[in-house]
Amino acid sequence: MKKILITGGSKGIGLECVKNFLAQGWHVICCSREISTWNKNKEKFPELQKVEYYACDVANENDVTTMFNTIKQKHDNLDAAINNASPKLASSGNFNDVKIDSMRETLESDLWSVILCLKHELNLIKQNGSIVNVTSINGIRPIPGAAIYGASKHAVESLTKSIALEAISNNIRVNSVAPGVTWTPRWEARAEHNPNIRQDVEGIVPIKRFADPTEIVNAIDWLISDKSSYVVGHTLVVDGGLSLK
Ligand SMILES: NC(=O)c1ccc[n+]([C@@H]2O[C@H](COP(=O)([O-])OP(=O)(O)OC[C@H]3O[C@@H](n4cnc5c(N)ncnc54)[C@H](OP(=O)(O)O)[C@@H]3O)[C@@H](O)[C@H]2O)c1
Repeated sequence: MKKILITGGSKGIGLECVKNFLAQGWHVICCSREISTWNKNKEKFPELQKVEYYACDVANENDVTTMFNTIKQKHDNLDAAINNASPKLASSGNFNDVKIDSMRETLESDLWSVILCLKHELNLIKQNGSIVNVTSINGIRPIPGAAIYGASKHAVESLTKSIALEAISNNIRVNSVAPGVTWTPRWEARAEHNPNIRQDVEGIVPIKRFADPTEIVNAIDWLISDKSSYVVGHTLVVDGGLSLK
């Protein structure tokens, strides 16, 4: 049975990835910080009982080392990984107004976490595998009001391409998926404070709607699969045309 690790698998795009690969018969390993969210998921979707879950903050080096050591002991190797975890944005606002600690928090959660996970994943995948980093259209264009998030996602885009060139010698393909606006719990949380946010944002997107998380998962799934066997270091933009504007 093929084994895949999905970070941030308890909500939104990550949770849909978990369900997708489980349905295809993979052994799915996933992590998030709040085990309570995961336990509620298991009550709602009983098939998730089969998932190997870790409570792990991917921005915390000790947590990450412990999780990967356990995975290594249990399985010795992995076939694929999806680096998807990202928390509520700590550093929103004009660059000059954002506190240094908040900036560092975003860099750690959206960039450093991916670096840490990639180090371990490349040791565990060894040969013949596929890794997808979930970035953002904010990793390919400017984002005023979230400069450090944008810088982190741009850096993950760069990492994807550099590491893709190194890893392909072991037939490991590293690519990224850059979603546009996708209706997930992070947007649901924003809608609690701004009830019009959904229709306001939909008005800006050429396709006139948010992506459903499954539409992002379809792109991730293709990049993980052999159907993309000649695709290396690519950014697959899935944004309803938003980044063309
Ligand atoms: N939704 C969008 O419109 C959109 C657009 C562009 C790009 N993206 C990207 O797509 C990815 C998924 O976004 P989403 O909207 O599905 O997010 P989401 O609904 O907020 O879910 C994020 C997931 O990551 C986990 N997580 C957050 N920080 C973590 C950490 N430090 N360690 C481990 N797990 C952590 C969360 O669980 P816990 O909170 O329990 O840890 C949750 O499972 C992210 O990389 C995001 O930047 C999203």
